Amino acid sequence: MDDFFIDGGLPLRGTAVVNGSKNAALPILIATLLTDEPCVISNVPRLRDIRTTLRLLETLGKKVSVSGHTVRISAAGALKTTAPYDIVKQMRASVLVAGPLLARFGRVRVALPGGCAIGLRPIDIHLQGLRAMGARKSAEGGDVVLRARSLRPAKVRLRFASVGATENLMMAAAGTPGVTTIENAAREPEIEDLGVFLRSLGAGVTGAGTSRIRVEGVPLLRGARHRVIPDRIETGTLLIAAAAAGGTVFLRGADAGQLTALLGALRKAGARVRAGAAGIRISSQGRPRAVSIQTRPHPGFPTDLQAPWMAYMTLGRGSCRIREDIFERRFIHAAELGRMGARIDVRGRTAAVTGVPALEGAGVMASDIRAGAALVVAGLAARGRTYVQRVYHIDRGYERLERTLRRLGARIRRVRAP
Ligand code: EPZ
Repeated sequence: MDDFFIDGGLPLRGTAVVNGSKNAALPILIATLLTDEPCVISNVPRLRDIRTTLRLLETLGKKVSVSGHTVRISAAGALKTTAPYDIVKQMRASVLVAGPLLARFGRVRVALPGGCAIGLRPIDIHLQGLRAMGARKSAEGGDVVLRARSLRPAKVRLRFASVGATENLMMAAAGTPGVTTIENAAREPEIEDLGVFLRSLGAGVTGAGTSRIRVEGVPLLRGARHRVIPDRIETGTLLIAAAAAGGTVFLRGADAGQLTALLGALRKAGARVRAGAAGIRISSQGRPRAVSIQTRPHPGFPTDLQAPWMAYMTLGRGSCRIREDIFERRFIHAAELGRMGARIDVRGRTAAVTGVPALEGAGVMASDIRAGAALVVAGLAARGRTYVQRVYHIDRGYERLERTLRRLGARIRRVRAP
């Protein structure tokens, strides 16, 4: 298990290149289950969750080869239809295999993912949608088993705009002949990217990125090439890190259109942000103004940036409120930030943050990907040495974060814990 040592207090300066999006790459890799023809996916970040997804595809019978950031996936005989617990428990997104496998084979067995550090995370909306398309559900030994002689197109209205449920249903619909519509669909950019990929496979997809998606499925999909969009959460994390530590950073390849809510909040806090076709530049110095945020489905403030934003706001002039409306317990980082001198009072889904003039380095522990990123942001801005444990959480979602930050002048290194 690795740890990070961070000697804080240095401004960040220079240029970083944003990697491909983890949360776009995961469903796109899984969507290759819809075809037996080869697919080539490029700009795939090298991360633990991606490796887990590739292992899942291999377990299901796909042949996978990786070269740098490009993944080639082809058929290697008949596919299996069971996603085992030892993989699902490592990565909840494994449940996305349900839609494509059910559409192709009329059956799928997926271990129930269970809750995680940030919430209970049920999959009822996924199941409700698949049932509307004709699947019958049963439970067997901790697994959910879905069967349908053949899925039928349907008009599905989600009770909440779940990202995963929207993706699962888009994939199920792409492999089901006829027109399926998904209403109150999630509008995240990753959904739009999945729509582009499903179109390249031969399905008719319109409206991805809006709350009404129309998918015209076909029984036989073809292979395709696809380049994954840049990671807006990695971009946002680096922007917040630069704002908190101070300095000037240019993020090449970053897409400002995907981050309107964050860029607005950064500007309110006093950072100078300039966005252009080539990327985003941020300059910042001194303590920020305190800016309250509330997490919302896209295009609102992303829940995945709530923890880094809280780390930044611990240094705010004045106080602000941070409300988490997507996950019910995504505040574990608040107590860790408290160990560094932050003043945060959590009541239910709201955290009141009172800014302090400086944070002090301390030993802290990551509890999920973004909580870990928040501790790194705090460590970069703090006085003295911060020691972040359980870096494997951070590695699930950021490709060598310490290397990117070192190139920007941060003093951060990875050490192997004894
Ligand atoms: C995706 O998770 C992302 N993961 C998450 O990123 C992200 O935080 C989340 O969307 C919200 O933006 C991937 O894309 C792989 P949801 P997902 O279904 O699809 C409830 C990260 O750090 N819900 O939109 O699981 C659920 O419990 C990760 O990269 C139900 O009640 O998110 C949650 O409270 C973490 N029933 C809310 O909806 C359901 O059937 C949002 O979940 C499904 C969801």
